Amino acid sequence: MFSIDSNKIHSEMLADRYRKEQDFIRGEGIKRCELKNLAIETNAGLGNLTKLYKANFAKVITNDINPKSIAEHNMDSLDFIRQIVNNLPDKIDLIDFDAYRCPTEEVKEYFNRIRNDVPVVICISDGLGLWMKRRKDIEKIKKHYVLDDNLTFFHRNGLQLDERHPWRQHIDLWENLLTVLCNINELKLNPIRVQQTKGQNYLLGSYLVTK
Ligand SMILES: C[S@@+](CC[C@H](N)C(=O)[O-])C[C@H]1O[C@@H](n2cnc3c(N)ncnc32)[C@H](O)[C@@H]1O
Repeated sequence: MFSIDSNKIHSEMLADRYRKEQDFIRGEGIKRCELKNLAIETNAGLGNLTKLYKANFAKVITNDINPKSIAEHNMDSLDFIRQIVNNLPDKIDLIDFDAYRCPTEEVKEYFNRIRNDVPVVICISDGLGLWMKRRKDIEKIKKHYVLDDNLTFFHRNGLQLDERHPWRQHIDLWENLLTVLCNINELKLNPIRVQQTKGQNYLLGSYLVTK
């Protein structure tokens, strides 16, 4: 007899919805690119977003740690930023950090070269909301999102870290981190579209960074 695996159908529906939301957020970012010469995509996996970028940019450079991925550079994404991206001579128009995990270290590393690229669009997927709910490891959250051990940046802006429900601040945590990084480089952060997926497990965002 034909049996339906409802768990499998449910997870496929969730993955499909996540992909649609992710494509929408990226699409909003692409619209704000002044030039469409070069896009960088970290964690390219099987290439769902790569297709979108190849349809919109003259050149796309990708990486993924998994050798089965379609990515051009088979390497860790932090190494990819340090060794490849930060040494590129060309202006980058959009850079995508797509990870089910948290890409803050890659983003911090990229800011070492960002002044060569502005205006530039940054796209992010961050799965740490789920982990924040399960672990609530405040020290690790600070390590990821806060540059200042004393949280002075938060205090200066009147934002307190909600230690009981840190995932509810996922959007604020990213905005704070990116604002600090922009301030250090005398740049301006312009959020284009930022949202959490249903259940607040993932953050999807696109941001324009300008002079
Ligand atoms: C969310 S999936 C990527 C989906 C893909 N961007 C797409 O649109 O089809 C995450 C990918 O990150 C890759 N990954 C995980 N850890 C990594 C690391 N440290 N460096 C590079 N890639 C990594 C995985 O192999 C996986 O392909």
